[in-house]
Amino acid sequence: MSPIGYWIDQYDLLDFMLKICCIGAGYVGGPTMAMIAKKCADVSVTVVDINQTRIDQWNSNELPFYEPGLFEIVQEQRGKNLFFSTDVDKAIVEADIIFVSVNTPTKTYGLGAGRAADLRFWESCARRIAEVSNSSKIVVEKSTLPVRTADSMKRVLTANAKPGVQFEILSNPEFLAEGTAIKDLQAPDRVLIGGDSSESGQKAVNTLVDVYAHWIPRDKIITSNLWSSELSKLVANAFLAQRISSINSISALCEATEADVDEVAYAIGTDSRIGPKFLKASVGFGGSCFQKDILNLVYLCERYGLHEVAHYWEQVVVMNNWQRDRFTKMIMQAMFNTIAGKKLAILGYAFKKDTDDIRESAAIYVCKSLLEEGANLVVHDPKVPFKSVRNSLVVLGTPREVVDDPVRLSSSTDVYATVTGADAMVVLTEWDMYRELDPVKCRELMRKPAFVFDGRNVLDSTKWTNIGFETHFIGK
Ligand code: NAD
Ligand code: UGA
Repeated sequence: MSPIGYWIDQYDLLDFMLKICCIGAGYVGGPTMAMIAKKCADVSVTVVDINQTRIDQWNSNELPFYEPGLFEIVQEQRGKNLFFSTDVDKAIVEADIIFVSVNTPTKTYGLGAGRAADLRFWESCARRIAEVSNSSKIVVEKSTLPVRTADSMKRVLTANAKPGVQFEILSNPEFLAEGTAIKDLQAPDRVLIGGDSSESGQKAVNTLVDVYAHWIPRDKIITSNLWSSELSKLVANAFLAQRISSINSISALCEATEADVDEVAYAIGTDSRIGPKFLKASVGFGGSCFQKDILNLVYLCERYGLHEVAHYWEQVVVMNNWQRDRFTKMIMQAMFNTIAGKKLAILGYAFKKDTDDIRESAAIYVCKSLLEEGANLVVHDPKVPFKSVRNSLVVLGTPREVVDDPVRLSSSTDVYATVTGADAMVVLTEWDMYRELDPVKCRELMRKPAFVFDGRNVLDSTKWTNIGFETHFIGK
């Protein structure tokens, strides 16, 4: 008998091959489903999306984004038990389990604009699932959602279900980080599955537990009620981001007192109650989720009348914005309060290393401010295409004529060409290759006095200072 027989007992278990569909072929849907396909030979996985280009990329040798180790897995499984398609309805009809992993951005309109999560993509999936399903299904919330979303989804699904069709909703938030997604999926700290306490709810939970148990030890698969699971995801991101804002706040105090933030982080991180991770001071956290999820948490607290709690968590975002602005001001002040007409070499544009994702990257905000001050920027990033750099600045309000002027904004694929003739080097992403840069060569190529602003503390401060750079690090 298939190990996955708890919930789907109407099938002939001798021929049983569990069918999973995932709606949303993004940074979460793609890698997560590729890992399930790799680890579960007895499961067929179809990832669907309304975006034809994305699906074409998943079916090609140029995946839609860069993630170390992902291509190898996709190449191995694609066409065997892993499929990518735009035929959403067919995949829904055939599936036993449907993961919904669509985007849940911050709302930009109406009630809760700028804070609440925009659930329209999620709701349209729920309506579609109800409309086309001829058999009962487990629907899994993979996207990050406000606590109690499962309630609304259950109502949408039930109200539109065909006779005899039932839906069990589970919450199974994803904790992978970009750049390390494959490692995180292969050996996660934990998998969290929330379900309701009814008999059918618990059967559904067990069915999903069985999928993950193909490769994850049972003691790392946590089960809980739906609301705890939904809320835990928001809280995990809030706590992680809070640590970064905490150390970044201390970085400012370090600069004022000649303490060194890396030494302070090391000293406090050796306390096993604090721990060493997520204490790297930086120009500010980016990425598609931290800010969005904290703002969503803030909105939820306000909705429940918990204004002090809302204010407390909002400060994590306030501090992050302040850190980004502080870094830009640091550049201005050091360079004699004018950067107009000066050439600045921007090293790194992605929101962290090992990804080409620039969503909410601190680099966008810093570069926008530097352009407003009249600087000319040359951008280097080993993975981010220049087109994405330009688009991100336009979206944030930088005038087209600035972005389209090659004197004001250009790019180079060679780091040494990027710094040639520059007044300053500005490190905004912690790519390993920047650690290896030759300071003597850089200084020879740059205008004097040559400035270094390291927003990631990746360069060796003593070495770069001793060679004759005017150096500015975060929290040093
Ligand atoms: P994404 O934007 O990369 O992908 C979402 C995909 O859903 C898009 O390709 C979009 O075309 C598709 N989509 C939207 N509506 C659809 C519909 N009705 N039918 C079919 N496809 C549809 O987003 P992502 O980064 O993968 O994030 C997805 C969710 O996972 C979000 O809630 C996010 O908060 C959460 N999350 C993201 C990460 C991460 O590292 N990016 C990590 C953990 C959790
Ligand atoms: C983060 C969480 O780590 C994941 O667990 C979560 O699943 C995901 O958000 C999500 O929900 O989207 P991610 O944003 O991909 O993952 O990357 P992180 O490694 O968390 O980095 C986020 C930002 O914080 C980056 O800009 C990074 O450079 C910055 N950071 C991180 C610091 O500035 N200092 C640190 O010590 C750690």
